[in-house]
Amino acid sequence: MKIVHATSEFYPYVKTGGLADAVASLTGTLAESGHEVSVFLPGYRAVLEHKDAAQAERKLRLKIEMGDQFLSGDVRVFSPRKNLKIYLVCREEFFDRRNPYGNGERDYEDNADRFIFFCKGVVETLRLADLSADVVHSHDWQGALLPLLLRDAERRHNVTLAVKTVFTIHNIAYQGLFPRSTFARTNLPEDLNNMDGLEYYEQTNLLKGGILFADRVTTVSPQYAREIQTPEFGNGLDGVVQTREHDIIGLLNGVDMAVWNPAVDALLPARYSAANLAGKQLCRVELLKRCGFAVNFKGPIFGMVCRFAEQKGLDHLLANQDFFLTQDCRLVVLGAGEKRLEVELGSLAAKAPHKIVLSAAHDEAMSHLIEAGSDFFLMPSLFEPCGLNQMYSQVYGTIPVVSRVGGLIDTVSDADERPTIGTGLMGEPTAEGLRDALERALRLFADAPRMAAVQRRGMAKDFGWKTAAAGYEQLYRESL
Ligand code: ADP
Ligand code: GLC
Repeated sequence: MKIVHATSEFYPYVKTGGLADAVASLTGTLAESGHEVSVFLPGYRAVLEHKDAAQAERKLRLKIEMGDQFLSGDVRVFSPRKNLKIYLVCREEFFDRRNPYGNGERDYEDNADRFIFFCKGVVETLRLADLSADVVHSHDWQGALLPLLLRDAERRHNVTLAVKTVFTIHNIAYQGLFPRSTFARTNLPEDLNNMDGLEYYEQTNLLKGGILFADRVTTVSPQYAREIQTPEFGNGLDGVVQTREHDIIGLLNGVDMAVWNPAVDALLPARYSAANLAGKQLCRVELLKRCGFAVNFKGPIFGMVCRFAEQKGLDHLLANQDFFLTQDCRLVVLGAGEKRLEVELGSLAAKAPHKIVLSAAHDEAMSHLIEAGSDFFLMPSLFEPCGLNQMYSQVYGTIPVVSRVGGLIDTVSDADERPTIGTGLMGEPTAEGLRDALERALRLFADAPRMAAVQRRGMAKDFGWKTAAAGYEQLYRESL
């Protein structure tokens, strides 16, 4: 099949979270199975500076209609592997910046224009480069207008650009909600500027466009597919999602075993597998060293790596600070994002620097070391569409301590509740739920044979992308 993806992140070129990993491994797996895959990505500075993009060729010039203006840009293309082409939709004014979405304090003010331009650039390239596709698959609010813009361009130019459009919701909390005046920048017919279209309480909601108008809608776990149809997790769009209840499917992400695999992980000081865990011990010592902790510490190490956003349950972690201050354990947190959380976690670490460390950065190598060197990995998320780190943890023999929400429910089972199959510990998504799971973690750690059994079961699970990609392939093939 000819498969086109449009995404705002793609590992290893640009990443703020799991979207980058998920799209890169899905498209890589599809390319490996022989499909002809094209991935569109904004031409961010980080991507253009990556060595793979050095051989990028200028494919075409763009003149994109945005309201009553025309904005220019160009499209560059390179191929990092067989069957995979990366198309960069470039316009310096929009994408030659340090970060993809904002300056850390707040989002860029022109984000609506940036990503409407991106989606229109994709459509124009499909049209002008004659790239007619079997499937055009876009992701999250940044790609949400693509199905609509594509069908609109087909009507205007009387051409077929895609047989089928697919839209994936990786996180319904981010909706691309902008002032009503944004609608004019889409140049879509005015009859979409109402509550059956993009309008949402007097604003323009881009995510809503993807949910309503893609031929098929997916999200990243079966549990989250159900959750987003409820007021508790729908972030105000549960009613909109319900209108697609027959067209929405939850397909679980997987683990890219070329990147996240302790047997081959080049970012670790030592490699290991379930058959020989000696390397995990070396990773532990290196982690203790890197954190400035005593390297002969024998108790449990708790690790956490995440975007600093409310979603990740860092407030519940902070509410349990007495646990980390009083118990004989270590805590290492790596992350970046909301300043408030950085400051509060920083002051927690300052209270006990010999046992708690905060690394406020985006650090790929450190994220691998934490997965490998910790005993427990914390994900007390308030909601979690899929979550990748709880899967990485199991692969790395590190026991996930997670809350009972979303994809965490689909990928972890509790070792106390299900003694013969459990691979982690689960609590309610509250401070008390986390406390209960943390206390059970200490008991599990004190029981070495049981701890080893839980760890081995996690390492034996197959989270490879093959299964996940097969789900998408089937969806692409199903007739509409
Ligand atoms: P989300 O997409 O909601 O952020 P996921 O669990 O799906 O959550 O994916 C998070 C990804 O981002 C993982 O690969 C994780 O290791 C990575 N990550 C998050 N924060 C950092 C950081 N500060 N440094 C390096 N990697 C990070
Ligand atoms: C989102 C979600 C996360 C998911 C990732 C990749 O960022 O927050 O749960 O794993 O997308 O699909």
